[in-house]
Amino acid sequence: MAVKPVGQSDSESAASPTIGGTLKTGAHLVRRFVGSLSSRPPSETDETWALDLLNTGQVQVWQQMSPQDQRHAIAVARDVSQRLSEVEGPAMASDWFDDAEQFRRAAAVAALLHDCGKIVSDMGTFARAGATVLWAVVPDDKAEDWQQRSGARRRLAEYRMHPTIGADLLRAADSQRLIHTWAAEHHQRRETWTVPEPVGVLLKECDDD
Ligand SMILES: [Fe+2]
Repeated sequence: MAVKPVGQSDSESAASPTIGGTLKTGAHLVRRFVGSLSSRPPSETDETWALDLLNTGQVQVWQQMSPQDQRHAIAVARDVSQRLSEVEGPAMASDWFDDAEQFRRAAAVAALLHDCGKIVSDMGTFARAGATVLWAVVPDDKAEDWQQRSGARRRLAEYRMHPTIGADLLRAADSQRLIHTWAAEHHQRRETWTVPEPVGVLLKECDDD
């Protein structure tokens, strides 16, 4: 299977994950925004499919995610699963997995839960849009300072830090390395990933579709 390279924004930080650095543009962003206005839960079929992939701790994390985020996550994870069904064995992640089925399940869960850290900031669609714009212009190192504050600044910092927060939640939920590492790295530049590069490319590409 050919996996197209994923473009990187020049404004992305090599040292740490950025929200502003991964601002998406055009029709994709508009579609995501409009879709996120509906609080319709995932279909029963989709929900059952997702829950079957998760362990007990991950289910508790999943159930705190918004319906909008769950729907998007399922769409991404189904895309990942479909593409991996066309691949022979775990060759894309041979250093991390021996078993193809274990790899495919872990990759799907990584897609399902990579944004779970957003449950802590608990922002709605419009607040997230504002936060994304704000973090495009405010230096990233403000986030650590603001995380010690209260009110709006704290929540903005928590939104900015959602990759780290999500990784912590997923480690606490006894997740495999690919799952919590992708949560931590999914806004980082490709050059700084520690996840197997072809897997990161696939996960990123499915999220951006
Ligand atoms: Fe994210």
